[in-house]
Amino acid sequence: MIKVDVKGCSSFVEDAKYQAYVSKAFEAFDVLKNENGAGNDFLGWKKLPCQITERELNEYESVRDKWMKKGVDLVIAIGIGGSYLGAKCVIEALSHNFAKQLKRKDAPEVVFAGNNLSEEYLADLMDLAEERNVACIVISKSGTTTEPAVAFRVVKQFIEARYGKEEAADRIVAITDASKGALKTLATQENYETFVVPDNIGGRFSVLTPVGLLPICVAGFDIQALVEGAQDAAKGLEIKSDKNPAIIYAAMRNCLFKELGKSTEILVNYNPKLTYVAEWWKQLYGESEGKEGTGIFPASVNNTADLHSMGQFIQEGSRVMFETVLHVENAQRSVVIESEPQDLDQLNYLAGKHVEHCNHMAELGTVLAHIDGGVPQLSVNFERVDAFNLGSLLYFFEFACGISAYLLGVNPFNQPGVEAYKKNMFALLEKPGYEEASKAIKKRL
Ligand code: PA5
Repeated sequence: MIKVDVKGCSSFVEDAKYQAYVSKAFEAFDVLKNENGAGNDFLGWKKLPCQITERELNEYESVRDKWMKKGVDLVIAIGIGGSYLGAKCVIEALSHNFAKQLKRKDAPEVVFAGNNLSEEYLADLMDLAEERNVACIVISKSGTTTEPAVAFRVVKQFIEARYGKEEAADRIVAITDASKGALKTLATQENYETFVVPDNIGGRFSVLTPVGLLPICVAGFDIQALVEGAQDAAKGLEIKSDKNPAIIYAAMRNCLFKELGKSTEILVNYNPKLTYVAEWWKQLYGESEGKEGTGIFPASVNNTADLHSMGQFIQEGSRVMFETVLHVENAQRSVVIESEPQDLDQLNYLAGKHVEHCNHMAELGTVLAHIDGGVPQLSVNFERVDAFNLGSLLYFFEFACGISAYLLGVNPFNQPGVEAYKKNMFALLEKPGYEEASKAIKKRL
């Protein structure tokens, strides 16, 4: 079970102040539970872990088996934002750090596209595709997002040219709306196998829908365990109590923001595999809370590497931040530091110790130093980086996000601000229908 520890905030916040935010978090919890808040038509993710069936999981496995029989060794997963980050974060967290170099062949390699508009990225991707046996998962709920649409056009044409149109239809899977949108129309016309993004689940809450589960399954990871972890978290989080980790997290981060003006939250990890968990979390909290002129800016660091870059600022720079440390209790691999006959590097005092022991001491030392430097510390604790615990962690953050955004007073489930850049981009690209906007924007240049 996920635990949240707020001891590292006690020297900054009086308990009575924190308790007032716990009371507010209880109210926000009720709004989320009773589904009577803003955006309540986007709460499908809440009961999702308990609704996923074995049949559904088997369907994802069938896609993987079918592609493996064809010898597919590269799956290009196309999507952006919520249609990309969930799968990316789980695959990165569960992969061997050097899977690519080891060239393990127990499942296809999943790479991502459609999350940028870099021509160089796409050209390089096509170089890779030239050398591999390729399939594609294209993910877009709206079907009209430019980045994935451009990438898919390129990848689709490559697959069709290489394998022919009929075989291409067997190598492309679409994940999109049940009934509407450009991708749905295309998938029906081209006869692609299709999975549905439910109407009542927004992109950033979609990791346990086909959007996340299919790419994760195709990459060879245990989606059953991921779902079980989320189920386990869901059970624990539905209890309204000041011991509920989602309530503690939502209450403390809002208290730090409102009472102390701590407007930046840095999610800290001590394991490179968790880098993309932070990227997923940034979207979840950034899009859910950053609106109407309020919100805590979500940032992240990867320690201990970033202690040698961002550490100086966090220790002594502007005092605008607090940190939330992802504390992993157990490493799953073992490397012990051995003694050397000549102790030239002066490390013999660590002989017999696990490297993870040093990592934990670095973490503890940093937490204490940052408290001394005026940076309140929360920690989110979980047992290990495996599929079960990741499922729990992701669901915990989703649930806590709903409470936290309601406590903050915003609708957690919309993202009106994302449209602004799209309108300008369409005007600059002279998209049909944007003629007036084109003229207006050009005057500003
Ligand atoms: O959280 C969200 O809803 C967004 O980040 C979307 O996931 C993202 O914009 C991609 O949209 P779509 O899946 O419609 O292409």
